[in-house]
Amino acid sequence: MTHDVSNGGSSPALENLSVEERRFPPSAEFAAQANVGSEIYAWASADRLGFWAEQARTLLSWQTPFTEVLDWSAAPVARWFGDGRLNACHNAVDRHVEAGRGDRVALHFEGEPGDTRTLTYAELQREVSRAANALVRLGVTTGDRVAIYLPMIPEAVIAMLACARIGAVHSVVFGGFSAEALRSRIDDAGAVLVITADGGFRRGTPSALKPAVDEALGGEQDALGPIDGSGAHTVRHVLVVRRTGADVAWTAGRDVWWHEALEAESDEHEPVWVESEHPLFILYTSGTTGKPKGIFHTTGGYLTQTAYTHLNVFDLKPETDVYWCTADVGWVTGHSYIVYAPLVNGATQVIYEGTPDTPHKGRWWEIVAKYGVTILYTAPTAIRTCMKWGEDIPGQFDLSSLRVLGSVGEPINPEAWMWYRRVIGGERTPVVDTWWQTETGGIMISPLPGVTAAKPGSAQTPLPGIAADVVDEEARPVPNGSGGYLVLTEPWPAMLRGIWGDQQRFVDTYWSRFPGIYFAGDGAKKDADGDIWLLGRVDDVMNISGHRLSTTEIESALVSHPMVAEAAVVGASDETTGQAVVAFVILRAEYRERVDEPGEGADVAATLRAHVAKEIGPIAKPRTILVVQELPKTRSGKIMRRLLRDVAEHRTVGDVTTLADSTVMDLISAGLNQPTGSAD
Ligand code: WT7
Repeated sequence: MTHDVSNGGSSPALENLSVEERRFPPSAEFAAQANVGSEIYAWASADRLGFWAEQARTLLSWQTPFTEVLDWSAAPVARWFGDGRLNACHNAVDRHVEAGRGDRVALHFEGEPGDTRTLTYAELQREVSRAANALVRLGVTTGDRVAIYLPMIPEAVIAMLACARIGAVHSVVFGGFSAEALRSRIDDAGAVLVITADGGFRRGTPSALKPAVDEALGGEQDALGPIDGSGAHTVRHVLVVRRTGADVAWTAGRDVWWHEALEAESDEHEPVWVESEHPLFILYTSGTTGKPKGIFHTTGGYLTQTAYTHLNVFDLKPETDVYWCTADVGWVTGHSYIVYAPLVNGATQVIYEGTPDTPHKGRWWEIVAKYGVTILYTAPTAIRTCMKWGEDIPGQFDLSSLRVLGSVGEPINPEAWMWYRRVIGGERTPVVDTWWQTETGGIMISPLPGVTAAKPGSAQTPLPGIAADVVDEEARPVPNGSGGYLVLTEPWPAMLRGIWGDQQRFVDTYWSRFPGIYFAGDGAKKDADGDIWLLGRVDDVMNISGHRLSTTEIESALVSHPMVAEAAVVGASDETTGQAVVAFVILRAEYRERVDEPGEGADVAATLRAHVAKEIGPIAKPRTILVVQELPKTRSGKIMRRLLRDVAEHRTVGDVTTLADSTVMDLISAGLNQPTGSAD
């Protein structure tokens, strides 16, 4: 039994329905004006490749049109639109100016301190051309890799587009990653240039970035000695944006101010036409081992799918909408749904530098009201945080401009979904829960706002042109009402083309669990209607506030501290952040005494949290560190994270029969009341 809830208002009966019975069909008005209707599914399934070819032709401008759609002969490495040539930056910027839309606002930038900047498409073209000329002058050529380590300022967008313009491959490293993490990504990609800033504004204060670059490159300010025991790296120059005005150390000959470099250049630059399969970017993401994977994406297919999904999942009207995605460019959401798709579609968007609660908890809603934001794309963690702060805060602002709301990054619990639609969307707006990954490049599973009767908590349906399923251990599709593993059964245009420098790992990670089909790493179930509900990761990958972190990576960071003999990390469910990092550590004998001293336990936890922040970045800091005497292991020595998760989530510990020593769990549980645990 299902119940439709009209878009006009909430029905009291709604509360009495079970989660799976709730439906929010689009209002008749919304459906009537939507970019696509339900016929799109039939078209795409009747002629999948023809469908994608048509999107590639209509949504992008090709310098040389393609004749070939998909070449899957070298599977699992796809070639999409292989004989076509284009340039991503030309598609995102120049062609809009050429079509007479140069005066349209591309970016409304809102700095955290309240400073603002507006860039039209014509202004963006000039800035990006200057930046491209500056890169060329610094010796960057087509195919070179450029590391970008910037806050959320317009220069981040300009830097990425400038790379694309000359056919250089950008590797954006999130500003919350440490010097060590930056260095390992620079080394892995062999980056020749780093683009950074003196800093950015975070929580009301300038937060430095340049010192981390100096430390990563073993510059003059390096107080800690070279990282990885070697000073040799591939970086020739560091281009530095002045944002906060903070003093920075300067390495003569290597460091160059962004504004000086750009001032010296012409604002005209002819884009470099590249093949459709030319690499566009590398983006590192955590896997199940200690070493992050450099996911790499190419040009034509990526732009096609991101532009297509942005246009239709958000029902974008480029002439009138004001779109805002709250992600950081350091993550794939920022790549696909801030930099590339919105600009390729000629949209006007808002970008915001800071945190939602600076200087007050209504900052986001103030921005929505100020710019008349019509489409908002954010993460469940942020929604739950706002729920916690209370609905009177958004209630103080005029949010009536909003017409579509999106969610991404982790499963959205039905309660948060309903709150989002009611409090932020005024019970009016469709809510689209979009499932995808760094690897997929673009949205894969999502409702279409003018078509789908939305179910709070479910991403529901593979988009037109996308083939996904939920399968059992033997790769057999599960029946409706059952759970299993989420897989993608046909190649898609924005799919990753590999792991930078390690194609074997690409094959092993994604294509070996179920030979020939892509294994996403997520558990999922199909409900009675066949709609997909995501259930979280089934591997040793955690999802903290919509960001991917690896348990093994944090374990390696912990054991690299002299105090730690062994460590086990689990993601424990957390009301706000989805999951939280909980670490169990065994100290080396010489440090064990310390924990028993009054106050010392907390000190150990603080030291180790700071150590993880230094090794990986503040985002990876464990919420809780528990010092234990033993870890639960199987007889073959594998840590049983399942049991640790039970402990971390305060559940009765599950089946311990495969434990080598079954008393271990009692010891751990008994030790939990010691004051070694939680930090802020
Ligand atoms: C993992 C990918 C996609 C951009 C942000 C994260 C989880 C993502 C959803 C969703 C349930 C989701 C999955 C996925 N995830 N979106 N709508 N519902 N889970 O990108 O860091 O590559 O992480 O995020 O577990 O595998 P990412």
